[in-house]
Amino acid sequence: MHRLISFAAAPLLAIAVLSAPASADALADRQALMKDQGKTVGSITPIIKGEKPYDADAVTTALKQLNEDAQKIDVAALFPAGSDQGKTTVSPKIWEDNAGFVAAVAKYKKDAAAAAAANPTDLDSFKVVFNQVAENCASCHKAFRIKKD
Ligand code: HEC
Repeated sequence: MHRLISFAAAPLLAIAVLSAPASADALADRQALMKDQGKTVGSITPIIKGEKPYDADAVTTALKQLNEDAQKIDVAALFPAGSDQGKTTVSPKIWEDNAGFVAAVAKYKKDAAAAAAANPTDLDSFKVVFNQVAENCASCHKAFRIKKD
């Protein structure tokens, strides 16, 4: 159920989830946020693959959206200790090496902010900017996520 809630709708449900255990909120919130990022990346994948012509507006919107989501990652609030139970793909490493995870989030925020400010004007410059952000998705998932599917 939580997995179906879109990120945009989440604030409307804030009151409803107040009574739920903190870790359940954190889990739903972070997964909604991650899903939104996945959606944003999906929206520009056809451009990266050359299946759609370069669209500066779509690219700028996507980079800004990614940055907005990135800046919302609050490790203490979204990844509290004990929130590794239930339908989640978090790795225990998030808590075993919390400083490393915090550093990975900080790097991601920095790269996402730089990308949002870059305003690439063509596919080649966009690819460079995008890869700097996307590299964070891959490296953090590799280090701090366990694939269950
Ligand atoms: C600093 C670490 C980190 C970065 C950077 C990061 N992620 Fe994640 N991501 C995670 C973790 C941890 C989970 C597992 C969350 C869970 O299952 O509770 C996750 C889960 C996901 C999921 C699955 C959500 C679900 O519903 O289970 C998607 C999709 C996703 N990330 C996309 C992205 C994309 C796209 C980017 C980059 C634009 C990104 N992530 C960047 C740590 C990160």
